[in-house]
Amino acid sequence: MLPNFDEVIPRRNTDSVKFDDLEKRFGRPDLLPLWVADMDFRVPNCVTAALQRLVDHGIYGYHLKSPKYFQAIVGWWGRRHGYAVDPASILFSPGVVPAVSHLVQALTVKGDGIILQPPVYHPFFWAVRTNQRRLLENRLVEKGGAYAIDFDDLEVKAREARMLILCNPHNPVGRVWRREELEKIAEICLRHKLIILSDEIHNDLVFRPHRHIPIAGLSPEVDRITVTCHAASKTFNLAGLSTAYMMIRDPKIRETYKQASDFLHVEAVNPFGLVSTAAAFDEGEPWLAALLDYLWGNYEFLKSFLAADLPRVKVSLLEGTYLAWLDFRDHGLSPQALKDCVIQKARLALNDGPMFGSGGEGFQRMNLGCPRATLRQALERMRAALE
Ligand SMILES: Cc1ncc(COP(=O)(O)O)c(C=O)c1O
Repeated sequence: MLPNFDEVIPRRNTDSVKFDDLEKRFGRPDLLPLWVADMDFRVPNCVTAALQRLVDHGIYGYHLKSPKYFQAIVGWWGRRHGYAVDPASILFSPGVVPAVSHLVQALTVKGDGIILQPPVYHPFFWAVRTNQRRLLENRLVEKGGAYAIDFDDLEVKAREARMLILCNPHNPVGRVWRREELEKIAEICLRHKLIILSDEIHNDLVFRPHRHIPIAGLSPEVDRITVTCHAASKTFNLAGLSTAYMMIRDPKIRETYKQASDFLHVEAVNPFGLVSTAAAFDEGEPWLAALLDYLWGNYEFLKSFLAADLPRVKVSLLEGTYLAWLDFRDHGLSPQALKDCVIQKARLALNDGPMFGSGGEGFQRMNLGCPRATLRQALERMRAALE
């Protein structure tokens, strides 16, 4: 049976952060939420069935990470991304955000320079700052809604850095980095002896004709300096199940990380996450194909609505992720006025551009992982607010 992504499933009063935490985070509860990155869609039936078997058994003791979980990950990356995962390189974590922070702690020391490419996923800043590492910004360059990497600046920053945190596909600007771009990044990192921490959590949410290229797969040399973080959680809407993993090919880097993480016992992920990840990877491809078509339809709908009704709001080219990066600069509002307009006038909960660091001013991030009717309602509210 094909999934019905048009179904509007009530999520209020389900302890959903997206729907039930609006008052605390945005100052009022009556907003239409298109912010935090989870989707308003039910998971694939194969995931529900696997979880149901676990629930029917009714015992949730300590759970073994048996070979089938590793095999599901190896199979997925081989089929979807042409990358041969070494099962021995896989380590689990309760999330990509904690993984990034633990990796920063384990693989760098206080004062080390870490490069981020803003505007970028905000927890990367926390990982750098709260761990007292030195933030080096390699700001992305925007031209007419398309973002590119400033390689001259990256070269300069790399001289004083220990690590680059790469976001591929890039949240929030929607880029899927091309092979030539990744090769340049890798060449600079190899030459300056940087570790690449590649967050590829959105890598299955990529729209044709783009293809995700795992940076670790470029060559054995690049693989040895790369740690890749991933989870089934964005793709299959499992974020609440707190299960992610990383792949660390180099035994020395892996051992360094393991020494730090064994101490924290962060590898003990829960059976619901493991079971659903394996079910999604083993059987979820038809659902994902339908999801990608639907999300692309939402993006097209958004583009045509903006062109017809809100021509001064631009959207960046979406190559990957379900997060649209909206440019309101033409409206000439101050950052606070834009935020107020979205929350108080449009009554929408979006992600405010400045939270993603420099280059975010004048932008808002909108989550397209919702039924089209919800998206239409959001855009109608925005039109009324900006009129
Ligand atoms: C780039 C990126 N990394 C990580 C995460 C979250 O990862 P987790 O929920 O596994 O901590 C998100 C969620 O939006 C994300 O966009």
